[in-house]
Amino acid sequence: MLSVEHLENVLQNRAFKYLERVGSTNDVGTQWLNEGAASGSVVVTNEQHQGRGRLGRTWYAPPGTALMFSYLLRPRVEELPYIGMMGALAVLETIRSLGAAAGVKWPNDIQINGRKVCGILPEATWYSSALLGVVLGIGINVRVDFAGTPFEQTATSLEQSVAAVDRAALLEQIVTRLDYWSARLTSDDLFEQWRDAMVMLGKRVSINQVTGTVDGIAVAIDRQGALLVRDSAGVLRRVIAGDIALG
Ligand code: BTN
Repeated sequence: MLSVEHLENVLQNRAFKYLERVGSTNDVGTQWLNEGAASGSVVVTNEQHQGRGRLGRTWYAPPGTALMFSYLLRPRVEELPYIGMMGALAVLETIRSLGAAAGVKWPNDIQINGRKVCGILPEATWYSSALLGVVLGIGINVRVDFAGTPFEQTATSLEQSVAAVDRAALLEQIVTRLDYWSARLTSDDLFEQWRDAMVMLGKRVSINQVTGTVDGIAVAIDRQGALLVRDSAGVLRRVIAGDIALG
C-alpha cells in the first residue's frame, strides 16, 4: 500500500509528493523543479493516466500494480548522458539485491529472463539555454498481470521472480542508490557497471531508428552511452537512440 504516512516512514526527511492519481509524475516533477525543488526530491503515484514512455509511447499500469515515480536532479550539462544510466543501475542493484537475475537492455530497460520489468525516462528542463534540472522517471512492474495482453511475451513483473514487494520499501532502496550515483555521475564506476550489465553485447541486434533500421552485431558501448554495431558490410555504426531487438 502506498500512502503519505507509509512514505513518510520510509523516506524520512526526503522531500516528496504523493499523488494517488496523476497525469504523469514527470510533469509534476518538472513543475516542482521550476518552483525550486531540491535535488533528490521525489514524486510518487499509485496511478498515472498520461504516463509517458520512451520514443513517444504511453506507459500505463493498473492502480496498485507498479512503482511509478520521478527523482529530481540538478545536474551539470556534461552529466546529462549519465542520468539514464544512473537510473538503470540503481534499479538493477536494488532488484538484484532482492534475488532477481536482472540485466540491462540498451539503453535503459531492465529485464528479467529477457522480459522488461522496468522502463526509465529522463527528461531535462531548460530555461533558455540554462539547464534547470532533470526529472528521472522510473516505472517498475511490481505485480502487473500481463496475461492476455499484447505484452504477455515481452514483459514481466518483479513479483514473478521475488517474494511480495512493498513498493514504498522498494522506492526507498532505489532512491538511496540514486543519491549515491548522483554524486558520481561522470565516474568510471557508473559507466562501467552499467555497461557490464548489458545483455546484448556480442549478440546480433536489430535497431529501429527514425532514420531506418540498423542490423548487425552489438560490439561495444561508448562513453556517451551510444551503441556500436558492426553491420553485415563490416561498417561500424554508432546508434544513439532507438528500439532494439535481439537476434
Ligand atoms: C519506457 O520504458 O518507455 C520508459 C517508461 C517510463 C515510465 C515512468 S512511470 C513514472 C514516470 N512518469 C512518466 O510519465 N513516465 C515515467
